[in-house]
Amino acid sequence: MVAESRVPQVLVASNRGPVSYAIAEDGSLTAKRGGGGLVSGLSAIGPEANAVWVCAALGEGDREAARRADGLLPREDTGGQRVRMLDIPAETFADAYNGVANSVLWFVHHMLYQTPLEPAFDASFARQWAAYEAYNTAFARALARDAEEGAVVLVQDYHLTLVPELLRSLRPDLRIGHFSHTPWAPADYYRMLPDDAAAAVLRGVLGADRAAFLTRRWAEAFAACCADVLGATVGSADGELRVTHAGRTTRVGVHGLGADADFLRERAHRPDVEERGAVLRAQVGEGRRTIVRVDRTELSKNIVRGLHAYRRLLTDHPGWRERVVHVAFAYPSRQDLAVYRDYTAEVARVAGEINDAFGTVGWTPVVLHVEDDFARSLAAYRMADVALVNPIRDGMNLVAKEVPVVSDDGCVLVLSREAGAAADLGEDAILVNPYDVAATARALADALAVPPEARAEGTKRLAAAATALPPRDWFLAQLTALREG
Ligand code: G6P
Repeated sequence: MVAESRVPQVLVASNRGPVSYAIAEDGSLTAKRGGGGLVSGLSAIGPEANAVWVCAALGEGDREAARRADGLLPREDTGGQRVRMLDIPAETFADAYNGVANSVLWFVHHMLYQTPLEPAFDASFARQWAAYEAYNTAFARALARDAEEGAVVLVQDYHLTLVPELLRSLRPDLRIGHFSHTPWAPADYYRMLPDDAAAAVLRGVLGADRAAFLTRRWAEAFAACCADVLGATVGSADGELRVTHAGRTTRVGVHGLGADADFLRERAHRPDVEERGAVLRAQVGEGRRTIVRVDRTELSKNIVRGLHAYRRLLTDHPGWRERVVHVAFAYPSRQDLAVYRDYTAEVARVAGEINDAFGTVGWTPVVLHVEDDFARSLAAYRMADVALVNPIRDGMNLVAKEVPVVSDDGCVLVLSREAGAAADLGEDAILVNPYDVAATARALADALAVPPEARAEGTKRLAAAATALPPRDWFLAQLTALREG
């Protein structure tokens, strides 16, 4: 139960919370920080905001923690925040999260369906959709129960698109915001969804007072889908889009999320990062340049094409052989889905092929690590000569913003023009079409050739742009906009 004496003023709802739990052999629980851009952004809220963060239990460890804590987790596990973990029935969760959210909505917004990867809207989708509704209802009910009169509720991402409308019907007194951390699909692609689901998702989000996105491009795509699918009217006022449907107007805002410079700079100089840096430098070898990438093993991150581009660099510019190493961290993600397991295997296979084809006794062309290790990621960020961030589509991509902030000697960013971050960093990055392997290989060669002074200057400008809207300000700006509207 929420402490009666401290009534929440702000509630945040997201599928993934700030911690996840593992059960040790002796039955004890160990807490670990959650991954992904959404958690990085929201973790900056800080205990002083008097927020309650409602999230789902994601595995057996989480379920056990939720049961033991009767929902509200111990503050020492959560960085001081009040976090309520919902124990959603395992089958409902699997169908809502793996089925609808990650296999359908994620694929649509990132435009990942390409033959032979196609949507299957058959009988199982009807079951999964019912689970998605049940899962969203569980969140709406928990929020309705925990919220004080007139509280502000910030609902996050594609897992919870139905919550704003459901919550409004339960608690019309609340100020409700929805934030999308993903891109939003163009209307022609979005219409691939079954008609009922396509309309329900849009109506659900429009239940908010304000729907916000990471860039103007995604906000406009959302408004275009509302016009196209629902026949909503789109206008603008005070620099924001407005979508009017069924007699209500929803404001559509934009808040680009930046990197947390203070946190990163402090964290990147702790002893564990120095240790990982020493190990990595030994793996790379004295005097060699590095092309670094750090991602979840995620289809939209385009890791395999990045490897092909690196192979092309070694083929077309043999002078770089023995002199450069591709440091690629691809951390496991969504392994319940076969397509992610296959992609993970493909990443390892292609990296192995490159090492077999080009490697020599003293040189491993690709250093691939697949175990999640934040300290090692920071060590790699610091030593990167070139950072490769080439997603097919990405809501923002915080790696592109984090690398320049902690870089030791400056680094050149090769960045997909389809990442939200390109809107903020485009002027000082080398932008690429993520599908174009040859162009990406040329961009890597150009990046390696940038002289040290130009690189240092470029990195300073990138770091300034990357930190323009730190997570805390990003969060507060949304709160202010919601309270004022
Ligand atoms: C993206 C999504 C987040 C999600 C994260 C990690 O950043 O926008 O909502 O939490 O990926 O994915 P996962 O499925 O592991 O939560």
